[in-house]
This record gives sequence, structure tokens and C-alpha cells, in this order.
Amino acid sequence: MRIDVITAFPPLFEGPLSESIVKRAREGGYVEIVIHDLRAYAHDKHRTLDDTPYGGGAGMILKPEPIFECVEALQAERSYDEVILTTPAGEVYDQRLCKQLSLHENLIILCGHYKGVDQRVIDALVTREISIGDYVLTGGELAAAVIIDSVVRLIPGVIGDGESLLSDSFMEGELDCPYYTRPPEFRGMRVPDELLSGDHKRVEAWRRRESSRMTRERRPDLLEGSGGARAKTSPRSGDGPRAKDKE
Ligand code: ADE
Repeated sequence: MRIDVITAFPPLFEGPLSESIVKRAREGGYVEIVIHDLRAYAHDKHRTLDDTPYGGGAGMILKPEPIFECVEALQAERSYDEVILTTPAGEVYDQRLCKQLSLHENLIILCGHYKGVDQRVIDALVTREISIGDYVLTGGELAAAVIIDSVVRLIPGVIGDGESLLSDSFMEGELDCPYYTRPPEFRGMRVPDELLSGDHKRVEAWRRRESSRMTRERRPDLLEGSGGARAKTSPRSGDGPRAKDKE
């Protein structure tokens, strides 16, 4: 997979894409992530990227010319599955959309900034507008980093233990259960007996129960219309690696 990011603020990506799993995925050749500085496509001597909105009002708007030039230069090299704009006005990002994006070959993510982007960019270039939640960031860069992080970890091979992906919160429409590690008792707080029992069936039943309880208590909206998907399709039934690891 290749992800091209277009931004007026490249340094914002230095941390999130250079550590941990995303770093490993890049080094291992699972994903190529290229950051493009929009300013390189601004031709006036001040390298201007924004201008005031027609009709007046506060805030600045990203100009169309540098964005068109940058996107078209990329599209001349290869075809892209999506040209995504990060904006609070987009569809709200979730694990379903994340999975969908992870199946693509080439993505462009254009980071919105200032008050917004000239509408002609959206009309002519953008195929998908995505918001990471109902709050307003100073720019679309952090949203793009969130999207990249969540997509990259779904690329097959990036996370070695497939089980840990399958049991993610949301993967089956429910929150994941609580986890414990050694020691079995810490400051008077004990690990639940079921998890110490060594009995896979008991462990599995406990995890299912806790998963359902957490979802009911915290995110009942996830259960609406799900018909209890987890109980039918749990990857944990007959599972092994994680339970075995703990023995
Ligand atoms: N830019 C500003 N706020 C945003 C949000 N919530 N999601 C995506 N891009 C944004």
C-alpha cells in the first residue's frame, strides 16, 4: 500500500509515522508513506497557500492551484483508489471505514487547514471527506495521522499475531474485554479466577461476558441492530495463541 499525504505542515507527521508499528510497517515494506509539502507547489515569492473567502468572513481558505498541481502530479504517476480530505464536515471515521481503506492500494490524504479548502478542490479532486470526530482540530494533519495509524495496522502481516487484530475493540461490533498480566495479586487487587484457571472454555466465557457487559454499559449504540454478532462469529472460539501464551 502507498499513502501520499499532502500538507502545509509536514513536521506534524514526524512523530506519529516514525515510531512503533507504523515505523516497522514502513521499514518492512508493507506501506510506503510519502509526505508532500504543499508549499513546494506555491509559485509566488511568498509561497502563499491561502486567501480570504469570497463574500467575506473570518478565516482563510486553502487556494486551489497548489493542491490541483500536487494531486495531478501524483495522479500522473499512478492511479489512486481515493483522494481523501480530512475535514470536520466529512463522514465520521470508524473501524468499518478503516477496514475498507486498508484494502486499497494507493491513497492520497489531503489535510484541510485554516477555515477550509476551496470548494472546487472538493468538487473536482476529492472522492471522500472524512472527519475523525465531532470536534474541531487546528488542522487535518492529526486526523490524517489517526487514519494512517489505524489503517496501517490492518495491513496483513503488519501485526504479527493475527489474533490480537481479530479481538480488537469494534472488530466485531463490541468493545474488547479487560486484560490482566502478572502478578496475580497487586495491592490487594486480584486477577479474576476465571483467567487464572487455565481452563480455555472458562476464560473464553468470561471474556465474552465482560465484552458484552462493557459494551452494554459504555456503548449500547454499538449493539443496536447487531443481533449479537460476536456470539456468532467470535474468532476466539477454538482459539489458541493468546490463551496458550498465558499458560
Ligand atoms: N480538521 C479539523 N477538525 C477535524 C476533524 N474532526 N476531523 C478531520 N479533520 C479535521
